[in-house]
Amino acid sequence: MLKLDYSKSLLSAEQIAAFAPKAEEAQKALEAGTCAGNDFLGWLHLPSSITAEFMTKLQACVQTLRENCDTVVVAGIGGSYLGARAVIEALGNSFQWLINKEQGAGGKGQENPNILFAGNNIGEDYLYELTEYLKDRRFGVINISKSGTTTETALAFRLLKKQCEQQRGKEMARKVIVAVTDAKKGAARTCADKEGYTSFVIPDNVGGRFSVLTPVGLLPIAVAGFDIAKLVQGAADMEKAVAADVPFEQNICLQYAAVRNALYQSGKKIEILVNFQPKLHYMNEWWKQLYGESEGKDHKGIFTAAVDFSTDLHSMGQWIQEGERSIFETVVSVEETEHKLLFPSDEENLDGLNFLAGKRVDEVNKMAELGTQLAHVDGGVPNMRLIVPRLNEYYIGQMIYFFEKACGVSGLILGVNPFNQPGVEAYKKNMFALLGKPGYEAETVAIRKRLAE
Ligand code: PA5
Repeated sequence: MLKLDYSKSLLSAEQIAAFAPKAEEAQKALEAGTCAGNDFLGWLHLPSSITAEFMTKLQACVQTLRENCDTVVVAGIGGSYLGARAVIEALGNSFQWLINKEQGAGGKGQENPNILFAGNNIGEDYLYELTEYLKDRRFGVINISKSGTTTETALAFRLLKKQCEQQRGKEMARKVIVAVTDAKKGAARTCADKEGYTSFVIPDNVGGRFSVLTPVGLLPIAVAGFDIAKLVQGAADMEKAVAADVPFEQNICLQYAAVRNALYQSGKKIEILVNFQPKLHYMNEWWKQLYGESEGKDHKGIFTAAVDFSTDLHSMGQWIQEGERSIFETVVSVEETEHKLLFPSDEENLDGLNFLAGKRVDEVNKMAELGTQLAHVDGGVPNMRLIVPRLNEYYIGQMIYFFEKACGVSGLILGVNPFNQPGVEAYKKNMFALLGKPGYEAETVAIRKRLAE
């Protein structure tokens, strides 16, 4: 199982103990469904309730997409995208894109489809270049939006749908376009029903950023060729390991939630999630959204930042070591890499690196990790380590559930509703008013007046 080491949190036992009962209370409220946002708790026992029937339907769709596509574009934003990308990048070969290209993208030998992401930005160049790239491809689309009305996603989907129909014909497009959305409402649902696409439902009581273990994440991850049964098993085992009856001393979710709240109270307003494995970059992004969107409200909340080390030690390292002391670090520490690579000896030793000869590259990385931890703690940066045995489906499943449950507990300790995101609407209202969306006439007048002042 994953382990949490908070021995270098620079907090006293009393400071942590003060938050233990709050964490237990928050967990009780979560489990009893009496907390704020209790209509969005469907994720809490999701891993243990996934049925074989659901997996069979999902796998049939996976097979159709894998058989008929060399490339699958996942259209989605925020919680409708980051989880899938995080898992796919953490598990995939860092050079999968090039490998697929050499194998002839969809031609002979390509084992897994390329998974591309769209609908998470409104960059014209991005969308142009994507549509250009797709011109030669047997591509499909997974359109993911819980509301079914998110502009970024809808915009990309309209372009992709048209191109897919033109390139592959209406009938094939119907086969390789899949919708993951609400059961009844939203434009994505209307379109899926009218066109007869295969579709999956995002349960009402699971919010976007908690939805990676629904078809939102599971479908793209399985299409990419990863074992979602193991992912779900990892999450289900973590669900048990941090269940309501597991006391604080053994419950790493309660511990993480308590320690980060104690740090916040002591003036540490920024948490930096750190990895030493480039494959975890999007896991950082997923975490950043999960905690940022869940806790940043009512003018409260830890600001979530993330770095990839050792890369970012050469950009943010100085700030972390000696800048304002308002930060703490949580390091995702991977114990065992998937591959072994020994550092070679060199007769001339021109680079002076023979002292590393015969060592594994990962040993050097581990010393970078330890050396950084010691330096940052000496510099007054509290540190926690989430210890992950390996980067495989099973442990990533554990990590997902661990962070989700700890997030719910942590937000409730903070005194916010962790499951809504009212602040995200503000920019949308302005954008729609500026674009003259029907129904926003009054806002358009008001915003034009404001801009003219
Ligand atoms: O966590 C959330 O609820 C959000 O980040 C949403 O996932 C995001 O805004 C996308 O929304 P939708 O799935 O409705 O397109």
